[in-house]
Amino acid sequence: MASHSSGSDLAGLPEARFSPYTAVVEKALPKGCRLITLPVRGDERGSLIALERSTGVPFGIERVYFIFDTQTGVARGFHAHRQLRQLVATMAGGCTMILDDGERRTELRLDRRDIAVEIGPMVWHEMHDFSPDCVMTVLAEAPYDEADYIRDYSEFSDLARRG
Ligand code: TYD
Repeated sequence: MASHSSGSDLAGLPEARFSPYTAVVEKALPKGCRLITLPVRGDERGSLIALERSTGVPFGIERVYFIFDTQTGVARGFHAHRQLRQLVATMAGGCTMILDDGERRTELRLDRRDIAVEIGPMVWHEMHDFSPDCVMTVLAEAPYDEADYIRDYSEFSDLARRG
């Protein structure tokens, strides 16, 4: 099952699973990124996803934010974080995410409710091609801190190269 370094986070839960999609795409992800399959609890009334450490969130959640009503043609992101880890999933619609660790650049369509992408420190990320109904949910390990952002790609690239 690919390289789920802490895939055991989900071990033992009957709902937990890594789909073939997860295994295939993960091989191509930049360093510091991985896909996490979210356990969906469904019954005849509909579906529910609960996120907590025991169901696959790889860090303590300090902040949650949502990106929605993104205007057609707008792209967002264009930064990396020095320290922050985040987990991103689209709970409606979808967008295309570019993930770049300075060496490997991967494009991923995020449009499944049950698959989240973990974005580690020093991963340049951009979001493009938002569907009008896209609601992106982001779980973050720390409070908002502008000093943690690198918003200039050449600065990011230099820092990434130096390791
Ligand atoms: P910005 O970083 O530009 O968003 P994106 O990376 O998705 O393009 O953030 C937009 C604004 O929201 C900016 O003024 C900072 C503010 N903001 C917060 O106040 N708290 C947060 O948790 C985030 C992510 C942004």
